[in-house]
Amino acid sequence: MRLRYFSHSAFQVTTDSGTVILIDPFLDGNPTSPVKSDDVKADYIILTHAHGDHLGDTFKIAKESNATIIAVNELADYTAANGLNAHNMHIGGGYNFDFGRVKFTIAHHGSLSPDNHYGGEPAGVLITADDKTLYHAGDTGLFIDMKLIGEMNKIDYALLPIGDNFTMGVDDAVKAVEFLNADISIPMHYNTFPVIEASPNEFKAKVEALGKKSIILEYGQEINL
Ligand code: NI
Ligand code: MN
Repeated sequence: MRLRYFSHSAFQVTTDSGTVILIDPFLDGNPTSPVKSDDVKADYIILTHAHGDHLGDTFKIAKESNATIIAVNELADYTAANGLNAHNMHIGGGYNFDFGRVKFTIAHHGSLSPDNHYGGEPAGVLITADDKTLYHAGDTGLFIDMKLIGEMNKIDYALLPIGDNFTMGVDDAVKAVEFLNADISIPMHYNTFPVIEASPNEFKAKVEALGKKSIILEYGQEINL
């Protein structure tokens, strides 16, 4: 499995068998993403919630690629009502797709679309493919149930917001690493806008002080997991 970071909370996962999954593809309106919607294709788009900086270019990309949206019920229905293919799920539920398993987890946040459609509960997501498990926390504050997520899943990579203001800041995200017992943590949702300025180096140093690893991905960078 390969993981590419576009900036903000937008990632691309490519499985060994070649399935391309985008997570929260906020590209064209994202001042920090070097990649725009015309540059990507997807088989699946996983959405954590309906906010514009996560829904992003989902409609355009999904229409052009004939991608399937994977989201909680209300958000999946909203995309389907706009003509997209959707696989409806909900928090606590997992499903085995052709590429691997997706399970939605809780997130403490909101989920109203830019055109004021209620997107259901916001979520985080566990993606297991090619023998690795990736946890994308979505937008969330710190919550104690991360301990349970970490107890029940061996998390190889945790993608965690550190930008503060709307989500966890650095210190809460470091506590999340401890709760999740994640092997490698990758900071996200920072420095896109002035209000979420944060230091990924401070996060990395504090994670390493816990005896854990952290990788700071450059915008556009792709790594092998
Ligand atoms: Ni949000
Ligand atoms: Mn956000």
